[in-house]
Amino acid sequence: MSQVYLNGAFMAPQDAHISPMDRGFLFADGIYEVIPAYNGVLFRFEEHLARLERSLGEIQIDNPHSREQWRELCEALIERNGGGNLSLYLQITRGATEKRDHAFPNPPVTPTVFMMTGNIAVPAADSPDTATGSKAITLDDIRWARCDIKSVSLLPNSLLRQQAVAAGASEAILLRDGFVTEGSASNVFIVANGTVITPPKSHEILGGITRDLVVELCHSHHIPVEEREITESQLRQADEIWFTSSTREVVPVIQLNNVTVGNGKPGPLWKTVARHYVSFKRRLCGHQDQE
Ligand code: PDD
Repeated sequence: MSQVYLNGAFMAPQDAHISPMDRGFLFADGIYEVIPAYNGVLFRFEEHLARLERSLGEIQIDNPHSREQWRELCEALIERNGGGNLSLYLQITRGATEKRDHAFPNPPVTPTVFMMTGNIAVPAADSPDTATGSKAITLDDIRWARCDIKSVSLLPNSLLRQQAVAAGASEAILLRDGFVTEGSASNVFIVANGTVITPPKSHEILGGITRDLVVELCHSHHIPVEEREITESQLRQADEIWFTSSTREVVPVIQLNNVTVGNGKPGPLWKTVARHYVSFKRRLCGHQDQE
């Protein structure tokens, strides 16, 4: 039986209740984080916490916990859910108020803190030689101008992902003014003439923790990597396309809008980076049993 955490206590999911007056429910006034844990060990915890602190700061919610308290809560939740390979979902909203009012409550109310775990599917990167790759489609980026905040306001992302799924693809690659921003729930990389390229961080994308690690791994293994704009035509002509996220790691795209990418198989640079990613993960968290 899984356990969740809500406002100071661990409980079964069906016992976790939140007021309909919570601003997270009424205004999507909150932020979240998704942190993977392998073998029960939190992966890139400091980086995820730094982003959580930044998201809270950007929407002016006081952080209810210190980093050490967050770590204790996350480790307790992992333990209560049997350890292994899990993703931790953390959500903080501005809290529940008496009246519905767009402006923030003054004085502030106590933020709502909710945490749960999810399963991590065995990622493609774990088996680079047998990975088959995913399909993606391009869509217009219809989101707001502060995609750098990990806000729970995910309706546009959800609509975009659903459009991809309805088209038989597993991710939507988003375009704004002719440039690639990111995926509906991931960051995007291409390979062109042996160089790995990903859009620079800005208000238009979420600064992905997996993205940063892939860039870091390229640097440390002397793989040419550039953080620069990608045009729609560069995307269409790319030798390889990948998307990255904490729950899916590094995924090779073999078809874009029903057109084959490269030779229709996960590319050579993807395989190299996937191997570096997996060995980095194993160094940090030990060998993961495949489920
Ligand atoms: N989403 N961009 C968007 C819009 C995302 O939602 C995500 C991740 C990423 C990748 O970030 P990271 O590498 O730190 O996971 C980029 C999570 C997994 C989610 O919403 O479930």
